[in-house]
Amino acid sequence: MSKELATAISAARAAGAITLAKFGELTSSDIKTKEFKDFVTDVDKACEAAISSSIAESFPDDSMLCEEGTVMTGSSGRTWIVDPLDGTLNFIHSFPVFSISIALLGSNSELLTGVVYQPVLDELFTAQRGQGAFLNGKKITVSSRTERESFLMATGLPFSKYHYLDSTLGMLRDVIHDSAGIRRAGSAAIDLAYTACGRFDGFWEYRLSPWDFAAGVLLVREAGGTVTDFSGDSDVFKRQSILAGSNITHPLLLDHARKHFTA
Ligand code: IPD
Ligand code: CA
Ligand code: CA
Repeated sequence: MSKELATAISAARAAGAITLAKFGELTSSDIKTKEFKDFVTDVDKACEAAISSSIAESFPDDSMLCEEGTVMTGSSGRTWIVDPLDGTLNFIHSFPVFSISIALLGSNSELLTGVVYQPVLDELFTAQRGQGAFLNGKKITVSSRTERESFLMATGLPFSKYHYLDSTLGMLRDVIHDSAGIRRAGSAAIDLAYTACGRFDGFWEYRLSPWDFAAGVLLVREAGGTVTDFSGDSDVFKRQSILAGSNITHPLLLDHARKHFTA
C-alpha cells in the first residue's frame, strides 16, 4: 500500500474515533452557525486538526484544502482535499450517517487517492488511481442493474440557496418515475461511496464543494462507474455539480440534468 493511502486511512480512522467519542453527546455550546443553516461543531474542527496535522507531518511539501479552513501551500503541486466530517447536520441530530472524506489530487489535476470512512459502521472505502476501489479491503464495483423499476437513487437537496429549487424538483420528479426509490442521506461522500459499491445505482447533486466529492469521485470511477457534471463534463472541479452512476444510470441522469439545469 502506498504511503499516501496508508496516511489517509490512519487519519480517517483517527478522525472517526473522535466522532464516535462525541456522537449523541453534543451540547449547544459545541455547535456554531457558519452561515444561514450551515453549521460547524467542535468535532468537525477536532477532526480537521487531527487529519491535517498527520498529513502535514507525512507530506510537508503537499498543499491542503480543508472545509473548516486549514490551508497549507506546498511546492509539490499536489493537494489533499479534506472534509473532516461530511454530514454535520446528521451528526448534530444524532442521525448516524456521516463520514470522513480525504482525497489527494495530483499535480496534473488527476485524483490519485480517495478514502471515505463511515465510523458508525466501521466501513472504509478506498481507491487509488488505476488500482480499483475497495470496501474494507474487498474489491467493489458499481451497480449492474438495468431495470429502472429496481433502481435506488441518491441525491442531495438545496438547504439554504433556493434559486435552483425548481430545477431540483423537476429533476427529482423525473427520477422518481425512473426508479424504485430515492434517498437523501445527508452525506455526499457516503452517497458516492454507496454508488461505488452498488448500494445506490446513481447519485446526483447540484453545486457541492470539492471536499464533498473529491474522494467519492475517485471511488466511483475506480469501481467502473462514470462521474461528470450536469453538462457531461468530466472535469468535475470546474462547476462542482455531480452526476455519478453506471453505464446505464449515468446517461439517464445526464438526460434529466440537461433538461432541467443550464449546467
Ligand atoms: C453536506 C453533505 C450533504 C450535502 C451538502 C453538503 P457537510 O456536507 O455532504 O449531503 O447535501 O451539500 O454541504 O456540510 O455536512 O460537510
Ligand atoms: Ca461536506
Ligand atoms: Ca463537513
